Amino acid sequence: MKNYIIHDAWNIIEEGFLPEYNRISESIFSIGNGYQGQRANFEEGFGGETLQGSYMAGVYYPDKTRVGWWKNGYPEYFAKVLNATNWIGMTLIIEGEKLDLHTCQVKDFKRILNMQEGFLERSFIAILPSGKQLRIKAQRFVSIVQKEIGTIKYRITPLNFSGNLDLTLFLDGDIKNEDANYNEKFWENIYQNVQAETATLTIKTKKTGFSLCSATTFEIFQKGNPITLETSPVQRDKYVGHQLRVPLVQNEETTIYKFVAQVTSRDYPAKDLITQAQKALQDAFAKGFETLKMEQAQAWAKKWEDSDITIEGDIAAQQGIRFNIFQLDQTYTGEDARLNIGPKGFTGEKYGGSTYWDTEAYCLAFYLATDAPEVAKNLLLYRYKHLPKAIENAQKLGFKNGSALYPMVTMNGEECHNEWEITFEEIHRNGAIAKAIFDYVQYTGDKSYLADYGLEVLIAISRFWAERVNFSEEKQKYVMLGVTGPNEYENNINNNYYTNKIAIWCLAYTNEIIGFVKGTQPEKLQALFEKINFQEEKECAKWYDIVQKMYFPYNNALRIFMQQDGYMDKEQILVKDLDKSNLPINQKWSWDRILRSCFIKQADTLQAIYAFENEYDIETIKRHFEFYEPRTVHESSLSPCVHVVLASKLGLKEKAYELYLRTSRLDLDDYNNDTEDGCHTTSMAGTWMSVVQGFGGMRLKNDTVAFSPIIPEQWRSYTFKIMHRGSLLRVRVSKENVLLENLSDNVVNIYIHDELCTIEKNSSLMAKGK
Ligand code: BGC
Repeated sequence: MKNYIIHDAWNIIEEGFLPEYNRISESIFSIGNGYQGQRANFEEGFGGETLQGSYMAGVYYPDKTRVGWWKNGYPEYFAKVLNATNWIGMTLIIEGEKLDLHTCQVKDFKRILNMQEGFLERSFIAILPSGKQLRIKAQRFVSIVQKEIGTIKYRITPLNFSGNLDLTLFLDGDIKNEDANYNEKFWENIYQNVQAETATLTIKTKKTGFSLCSATTFEIFQKGNPITLETSPVQRDKYVGHQLRVPLVQNEETTIYKFVAQVTSRDYPAKDLITQAQKALQDAFAKGFETLKMEQAQAWAKKWEDSDITIEGDIAAQQGIRFNIFQLDQTYTGEDARLNIGPKGFTGEKYGGSTYWDTEAYCLAFYLATDAPEVAKNLLLYRYKHLPKAIENAQKLGFKNGSALYPMVTMNGEECHNEWEITFEEIHRNGAIAKAIFDYVQYTGDKSYLADYGLEVLIAISRFWAERVNFSEEKQKYVMLGVTGPNEYENNINNNYYTNKIAIWCLAYTNEIIGFVKGTQPEKLQALFEKINFQEEKECAKWYDIVQKMYFPYNNALRIFMQQDGYMDKEQILVKDLDKSNLPINQKWSWDRILRSCFIKQADTLQAIYAFENEYDIETIKRHFEFYEPRTVHESSLSPCVHVVLASKLGLKEKAYELYLRTSRLDLDDYNNDTEDGCHTTSMAGTWMSVVQGFGGMRLKNDTVAFSPIIPEQWRSYTFKIMHRGSLLRVRVSKENVLLENLSDNVVNIYIHDELCTIEKNSSLMAKGK
């Protein structure tokens, strides 16, 4: 765990240059706008430890896997989000010396991610080997108003000399992915051109054929006025730019503005890319940096208005939650149903920028409560559109009859990961995708989604479960063999409680929705049945039978559902009794040892209890929590949040708070020693869950929102907002009371500590705290 980020309510601050943490900071200080993202690399480059990363949403490459592809049913490739054109680049040579923080002395270094207004800022004094001193102040952002635009303001002041700066402003498409399996480059050159003040570069991915066109221009100011300098073009393969000599005068500031527009063939025909990029570039240039920045601040203010959470009395927690919300809002905006949320967002290459079950199981709740319903709907439509591929995925494994197995990892609907036991066998993801339909409809009340899209997905998933189980003659029950549950530290196990549970829930829910659509839109139901050749009587009867006769491993002595068959055969040790030097076990132990141990990577049986809480009484929840929590190592970032929600429900404030800190500052403090690869973006939604569903105790009781807030001892108060069915509610919880404000023009009913109350429009209600 590191502790170098300075605590502040609205900013992420690094003070003093820490090159050994540079890759971590590059992840943490990343910027994005749902369309493109950029790690916090230095504009002038860096000779030390760095991971250059510029990413365009949805632009990927099917990199051939290194293992397993020769076996039947294994995917041939592992899709990865691509490191794309480095658009921030500039080279600064001062009287023959290159500015590179790796080779100069650095003073007064400060890096700030301004989350309130959405920009990155860096300032420092560099002392070059010759002794020349320069003050640099740089700001940049990718616009959330004009998504194609990235822009930089870079100020240079020579402090003890006057002399020439040889400046190159460039776009570099000759880049690689660090995780390229065969060290290949994934882009080929399509077009490059340098004019007097603009440079344009189009590159295209091999195999997938995505074209990316980037166009750039610049402006240089001295003494408050633009200056004209002679420029010469620079070009090499996939690299375009301008070289200019800028006379620097001691103690006078020179400002470089760089503007870049990036468009892809995902949005425009390839032949129009250059025109589109240049048009966006001209618009941005005409507005200028300061106007774009002002628009950015206004747009972020609007985002914060709907989604901010405040915490009084605990600055570390405050910074943590805002950082998580900021990253989620930078990663997914819901404007494009073809996009989704990669576990690292735009902050690194790991997990390939692909879609995991993380979206449905963790992220959906955040977007449902903090944005318009269309945003969450687009996450669902993404899966709807992938249904034919999910059916194909199942067919590849030998399933028939329209069964769908959604991929554990995907870019375009195809499964594209290469770890059989861990990823493919995690068929529980099908359940999360079905449950997301329930959650969306319950939250928004948009029942039309069911007949239009949801039911088709539900039936295909239910068909999969029906084929995947088998009837055990010995047990006289249905069983599900050879799976991996959410806990990836157990592979190829039988009867994972969570998987069996979500499977029968899904079968029962699909039956219910068939009944609902039959009653409301019988013609649509008929058309769907014909389309998918659904044998209602036969298939529904089978599902019903499975629901009645599913097997769940249970320990009678402990009165606990077992995570899987044979779990109690393992040597039972608690995490607290392990010497700290063993942790994290995934970095210290062999895989063999991990698989044999009782340690649980992430919420598994507790994930089932979290998902279907209403089916368990409080004593049952308590027994399971007390059994599983001490055996859980939380080595997936998705784990602590589920435990926070359950601990809060059980009134275990200290435990909830301890786990909350772990999730909310996971990346800021690099808890798992892996932030250098990117931030844990999807688990950031878990931090939000921890506050709203955990401490705030928010649940839905049919159509009504319910709160049962508690407050950690360390906090004076906390406040969050919820959008629900056209109403905006603000909940402020302090030690003494709970203030519920209805900020909308509708009358709202809510439950507070199980009591139903009505709040008139634009008014509030005070309840006692707990
Ligand atoms: C977790 C999975 C998760 C994946 C991507 C893994 O470490 O165990 O549940 O889907 O990371 O976030």
